[in-house]
Amino acid sequence: GASVEVDISDLPPGGVKTVEWRGKPVWIMRRTPEMLATLALHDNALADPASRKDQQPEYARNAQRSIRPEVFVTVGICTHLGCSPSAVPVGTANPSVGNDWKGGFFCPCHGSTFDLAGRVFKNKPAPTNLEVPPHRYVSDTRLTIG
Ligand code: FES
Repeated sequence: GASVEVDISDLPPGGVKTVEWRGKPVWIMRRTPEMLATLALHDNALADPASRKDQQPEYARNAQRSIRPEVFVTVGICTHLGCSPSAVPVGTANPSVGNDWKGGFFCPCHGSTFDLAGRVFKNKPAPTNLEVPPHRYVSDTRLTIG
C-alpha cells in the first residue's frame, strides 16, 4: 500500500525509529523538552528557519515542523544529493558548523548539517530542509505515514 502504520508506544525520549515508506527511510524521533528548546537558539544560522519552502505539509509548517511538538517525522534523505544523514545527540559540537549547532542530523557526504527539526544550516550545501512526509495520528500511539 501507499501508507505505512507505525506504533510509537515503545519510542523512548530522544529515540529514533526508522520505517520504510515508498522505498525511503522515514525517521520518527521523540524529542525531549531539552531537544525542543534547542530549536529557538539559532534561527539566524538557518537557510529557511520558518520553513517557507515546500518541504512539509501545511500542518507541519510550524516552529517544530510537526503535528505534536515532541514527535518529529522526517524523510531520512539529505536534500543535497541523497545520502543518508545520521542523528547526532544534543550538545555535540561540530567545528565546521560552529557553536550554533546544538545537535540534529549530519550528512557525511558533503557536510550538510540539520537541526532537530531537520532545518539546514545556511553555510551548508543542502538547498532545503529535510522533507516531512504526509502523516497523521490514528490513535495516541499510532501514526500513518503517507
Ligand atoms: Fe548530503 Fe551532499 S548528499 S551533503
